[in-house]
Amino acid sequence: MKALVLKEQSFQLEEVENPILQKDQALVKVHFAALNHRDQWIREGQYAKIQLPAILGSDGCGEVTAVYNDEDKHWIGKEVIINPNINWGNNLAVQSREYQILGMPTHGTLAEYIVVKTDRLHVKPDYLTSEQAAALPLAGVTAYNALFNKGNVKHGMNVLISGVGGGVAQFAFLFANAVGANVYVTSSKENVIQKCKDLGAKGGANYSEKDAIKQLSKAVGGFDVIIDSACGDGMNDLIATLNPGGKFVFYGATRGLPKELNMRAIFWSHLQLLGSTMGSDEDFSKMIALCNEHQVIPIIDKTFSLTDAVLAFDRMKNGEQFGKIIVKV
Ligand SMILES: NC(=O)c1ccc[n+]([C@@H]2O[C@H](COP(=O)([O-])OP(=O)(O)OC[C@H]3O[C@@H](n4cnc5c(N)ncnc54)[C@H](OP(=O)(O)O)[C@@H]3O)[C@@H](O)[C@H]2O)c1
Repeated sequence: MKALVLKEQSFQLEEVENPILQKDQALVKVHFAALNHRDQWIREGQYAKIQLPAILGSDGCGEVTAVYNDEDKHWIGKEVIINPNINWGNNLAVQSREYQILGMPTHGTLAEYIVVKTDRLHVKPDYLTSEQAAALPLAGVTAYNALFNKGNVKHGMNVLISGVGGGVAQFAFLFANAVGANVYVTSSKENVIQKCKDLGAKGGANYSEKDAIKQLSKAVGGFDVIIDSACGDGMNDLIATLNPGGKFVFYGATRGLPKELNMRAIFWSHLQLLGSTMGSDEDFSKMIALCNEHQVIPIIDKTFSLTDAVLAFDRMKNGEQFGKIIVKV
């Protein structure tokens, strides 16, 4: 089969052995894969425990073509999406020590075929195209956990989604919007802010412009929850816009550590800083249920062929996207 193989930080599209089906597994012919920033971090060598060569890709939608166990035969011919969690474990609140994410060290979805345990399979939501469904898994479950388990986001709350052009952030925006929160967004791109307003955002600010977020916050009465993945020095400005008892939920730290944190503002206003990462298998199922209930349509940035997949990675590296970058396998 054809696969995009990462070797010492450069990709090669090559023929590799078809994966061998083992007990409890299904063979899936991948139709579409989607990129996450994790894939780009691995490409850059900035990820823990990198093992090369590797076939990256945590997200995929495809058709089940074979199963090992007789009792799993009902999956054959079904179009599915794959839960990228491996060994989340029994604690719903936090992953186990054995936790892994699909796509390095296990082979990922940037290949014609993949084997996964059948308990990772979910039937593709009917209302989505295969391309849209491929966008859901990793970013969807990350946004779900951050918003609903950590942020406890509910109808009528003021929620700010920062860097909404990102793959996870656009789901956080869509999900918060779907449950009736008052959603505000930040981005470095005016067209992204405008598109979010068209889709239901109540307002937006360009985070590259000094004081723009502060002014937005003043105009709307502050935020109850902020969902962020940038952190860095911008964190203090964001925290300053939280209402008393507000929550700053972060699932990444693209801009690294802040040089300082305004601890007084945090304790005096009873603010909470909450770390979050992906989500349990239960969260994954709930995320799909939420999508089905509200017919949430993922924002797709652009679709590349497997031959051009390196260009897809470059687009993510340069932060040019709005929404999910897809690869047609
Ligand atoms: N913990 C987890 O389970 C988990 C899961 C997924 C992702 N992550 C992490 O979360 C981060 C985003 O992942 P992703 O896959 O969504 O990446 P992505 O699609 O590449 O999105 C990155 C986005 O970050 C935004 N950004 C950049 N600088 C910013 C700043 N100073 N302030 C606010 N936003 C800024 C940009 O938004 P604009 O284009 O709107 O300017 C950009 O589109 C990465 O660090 C990733 O490793 C963690």
